Amino acid sequence: MKALVLAGGKGTRLRPLSSTMAKHLIPIANKPILFYALDQIAETGIADIGIVISPETGESIKEAVGGGSNWGVQITYILQPEPLGLAHAVKTAQEFLGDSLFLMFLGDNLIKGSITQFVEEFNRHRPDALILLKEVGDPRCFGVAELDNLGQITHLEEKPKQPRSNLAVIGIYLFSSAVHQSIAQLKPSWRGELEITDAIQGLITSGQRVQGHILEDWWIDTGNKDDLLEANQVLLDALLKRDIKGKVDSQSQVIGMVEVRQGAEVENSTLRGPLSIAEGCQIKNSVIGPYTSIGKETIVEASSVERSVVLENCRIHDIGQLEDSVIGRGAQITMSGDKYKAVGLFLGDDAKAEL
Ligand code: TTP
Repeated sequence: MKALVLAGGKGTRLRPLSSTMAKHLIPIANKPILFYALDQIAETGIADIGIVISPETGESIKEAVGGGSNWGVQITYILQPEPLGLAHAVKTAQEFLGDSLFLMFLGDNLIKGSITQFVEEFNRHRPDALILLKEVGDPRCFGVAELDNLGQITHLEEKPKQPRSNLAVIGIYLFSSAVHQSIAQLKPSWRGELEITDAIQGLITSGQRVQGHILEDWWIDTGNKDDLLEANQVLLDALLKRDIKGKVDSQSQVIGMVEVRQGAEVENSTLRGPLSIAEGCQIKNSVIGPYTSIGKETIVEASSVERSVVLENCRIHDIGQLEDSVIGRGAQITMSGDKYKAVGLFLGDDAKAEL
């Protein structure tokens, strides 16, 4: 069995951050989003992984992920010249996939725990497709599935105005090679993309067996800023252990699950977990957390940062309270004037904000 990870696309919802970096490399709890998927795939024992990349961000993904040795897998990069849809990405990867069964994982999706049970379920029952589904509050912005009482999907519709169920198709699928014939017959949708939901509906219509599996645990599609902050919160909660490898002076207070990585220095500050401070950060006279990740080599002075993701090499100086914010690499934020206020920001790389 092979795996196909989709890490191309446009990432329009995450602009301005995604204009200068692959959204898949945005760190959540100080680890790139894409690495969580690779961890979970490697854990299933699948060792042959294709990653679909775009011309804009492909090189940075190659650089970050490499040949796969960190995961004990072999990675093949597949360039999708244009983001023409999820089914188009599969089509582009057809030579890599050959006739193999394959796991498809959207590289910007996060789910809790292991996916091994889904791979095993697929191998045990060998349907033509096994699709992970999740109950959602408002299904109208998802692909929506209808299941019969045997757990087979009977109908699938992309972003229906009147959803027939509350089961959304999420970003993890298992396919037999039958999906390639279905994709070959697709026409672009109204948004000009080859839709994977249409390919799956094609399988259903032609009488193939398409099984649904409802995910009980959390799933997050890291499509926009609030999703990123939610993912950061959930992952810090789920994964973090108290681990202080950097220097924390005796004037500082550390409360709860706090990670301070090697080479980071904390002076006269309060760290309120869960939070992660990456390598080489300097935190002075500040209050950090809860639910905050500070990227490598970032400096925070005389400020409070709460429920936020700050990327590497930023400088946050004397700004009162920053909350619910996502700050791109190398951004500088300072406050002129002395009014105390709380701010929420979504800043791209190298932004300069004077408040
Ligand atoms: P989406 O989030 O649906 O699309 P996008 O990444 O272009 O983002 P936006 O809607 O904000 O513009 O894509 C889901 C995943 O699939 C994501 O990891 C990108 C990837 N993808 C491809 O690899 N090729 C494609 O043609 C498309 C549409 C997405």
